Amino acid sequence: MSIHFNEQKKIFKLDSKGVSYILQVYKENCLAHLYFGAYIPDDNLTDFAERHVYASFSPQPDTQPPYTFSPDTCPMEIGCNGGADLRIASVQIRNADGNACTDFRYVSHKIVSGKPALPGLPALYANTDDECETLEITMRDEYTGAEAVLLYTVFEKQAAITRSMIIKNTSDKPFVIERAMSFCMDMNGCDYDLISLYGRHVQEREYMRRPLAHGTQGIGSRRGSSSHSQNPFIALISAGGDEDHGDAYGFNLVYSSNFKAEIEVDYNNSARVTMGINYDDFGWNLAPGEAFYTPEAVLVFSNEGLGGMSRAFHRLYNNNLVRGEWKHRQRPLLVNNWEGTGMDFDGDKLFAIAKWAKETGIEMFVMDDGWFGKRNDDTSSLGDWHVNEAKLKGSIGDLVARIKGLGLKFGIWYEPEMISPDSDLYRAHPDWAIHVPGRKKSVGRQQYVIDMTRADVRDYLFNVMSEVLAHNDIDYLKWDFNRNISEAGSALLPPERQKEFYHRYILGTYELMDRITKAYPHLLMEGCSGGGGRFDPGILYYSPQIWCSDNTEALSRVDIQFGTSLCYPASTQGAHVSASSRASYETKRNVAMWGSFGYELDPAKISEEAREEIRHQIADYHKYYDLIHYGDLYRLVCPWEDPYNCAWMFVDEKKTQALATYLIKFKKERRNLFLRLKGLDPEKYYRLEETGEVYSGALLMNAGLCLWTMPNEDGYSKTFYFTEV
Ligand code: DGJ
Repeated sequence: MSIHFNEQKKIFKLDSKGVSYILQVYKENCLAHLYFGAYIPDDNLTDFAERHVYASFSPQPDTQPPYTFSPDTCPMEIGCNGGADLRIASVQIRNADGNACTDFRYVSHKIVSGKPALPGLPALYANTDDECETLEITMRDEYTGAEAVLLYTVFEKQAAITRSMIIKNTSDKPFVIERAMSFCMDMNGCDYDLISLYGRHVQEREYMRRPLAHGTQGIGSRRGSSSHSQNPFIALISAGGDEDHGDAYGFNLVYSSNFKAEIEVDYNNSARVTMGINYDDFGWNLAPGEAFYTPEAVLVFSNEGLGGMSRAFHRLYNNNLVRGEWKHRQRPLLVNNWEGTGMDFDGDKLFAIAKWAKETGIEMFVMDDGWFGKRNDDTSSLGDWHVNEAKLKGSIGDLVARIKGLGLKFGIWYEPEMISPDSDLYRAHPDWAIHVPGRKKSVGRQQYVIDMTRADVRDYLFNVMSEVLAHNDIDYLKWDFNRNISEAGSALLPPERQKEFYHRYILGTYELMDRITKAYPHLLMEGCSGGGGRFDPGILYYSPQIWCSDNTEALSRVDIQFGTSLCYPASTQGAHVSASSRASYETKRNVAMWGSFGYELDPAKISEEAREEIRHQIADYHKYYDLIHYGDLYRLVCPWEDPYNCAWMFVDEKKTQALATYLIKFKKERRNLFLRLKGLDPEKYYRLEETGEVYSGALLMNAGLCLWTMPNEDGYSKTFYFTEV
């Protein structure tokens, strides 16, 4: 049992691996947060909800002193708008009377085994019912008849808890949900640093750290996607904490659209953390009898610093998020033609790349953008998903047969959510483009976004994609999304529902992804959004890997991979060697191997030596596959600590093998001449493959590897592969 209820104290204790989360039905039936952190065996926290009250300014139910309780100072599990809790709200409902005073109090709870699905939404799942338990707490607003069901799932073998909320209208009048964050939690203190991942196209998920300050701070997206700009991930780490030390809390939203993560530090020095759908320009009409499900938030804790937090996320996502036939199967080593040819190709050029790929040991050929309509540049044809047979010099069936005849798998690119102004589809259905009537539509990469809220649009897309997918033996689909949403509106939604647009849009996208994955379960999907503009757990639920970035310059891409690794496992990040990078092929490979590995080039445009080197790389690659995809990652030297050098390593679960990589991005100062490894068994002995030398795990972790003899050159990198002796 991982969820316990102490009837007498009305305390819920949720225990996952090494972690406890404790809450209480407190005064006035408020639901108080008592503790989240390292595992504790008991629940004697009865005075934890008691906080200092400034009686005139924090409203309280008591009419006589002493004033000991106010919803404004009590650490809460839900922050209600418009009542006596005056901190940032996590839920706000505008009722039929026009006010937005919302006040949920505990009514009942139940504990169920397993994890209920969230209809229409991606979410973590239990492989077996005994893997998790779920606590469902029903809260009720007596005045409006609204109910909030708070869901907590505890993963017994993972250091994680998931949270979400269902709002139900049990009254006889409609109301509008104006805010419904997936969770709210008031921490015991505020001495934390906030870490987030910001960026832009070709520079995604850069690390940002700043101390929490009094007032409200946070991140979010209003772009119609989780975005390049901010990832739906934040961490709080105790001030002074680092890679290996300190309490580290990670919060990640399983959602791919507008989100907000906010932290308010209040006058009692408590930090309220909330995360969920961005409430800017959001509203959801809920008729009597209807229910609204929020996306799920994942909460992870480690007292081994950021490294421990990341490894907890990685294990959880490999085990309980990524699904389908490719969850445990080795993903094919691929070559994609995009960086090699752009849209300037024909069937013969593609076949030539595939032929070289087969001879070199590559396992799959992926045909990127430009195979449909009359698309030879990015001005046209999105939506016209009909094969350009003149360009391919035959049907898609002919090309697939030719390439599969070589013994390769075949992959294809789509950008289903877009429509080009210059397309037959747009000419036939101009109202299928997202728009606000009477306003000029902005373009992004010369394209509009198609209205995924519409069932007719989704049916069209499913059918037109099926013309190719159902009749050809296709193994892989890259699902791209190359602009953000502006002038958001749907021709079919009535005025009062236009505020539902963004959420309905992503629900529509998820529905189409779901249909495609169910109809074609053998397809390996790779998410993409101009590189990693939608790198989030929502997309990972449908596609086990996401193209990490359009930046394939190994020396700067490595920073993106470091940032991504704070939350997402190596198995999920698509990473390719390209010809355009200045780095040596050795370094390009060493960086790209930290992910779902592949190549992205035209072999006709590279030297014979480069082709030869690639042949050797591939011969060596498979032995590292499981170690990298499923092993534990240790960041040894991070770009946010040392701008010149970086290092990382993988260790398998049984600590029998390890692969460490050291990279000199820019030679300047070699501070890390003795590279101390991590995660090994100090008692075991390991052989370094290259030299045959044997070292104890203790030596490698305490004294380190000596790097004095290694060349100090820009872009130089080296791997060290150890196996237990
Ligand atoms: C953006 C992607 O990130 C690239 O890999 C490529 O697929 C292009 N789109 C094609 O338009």
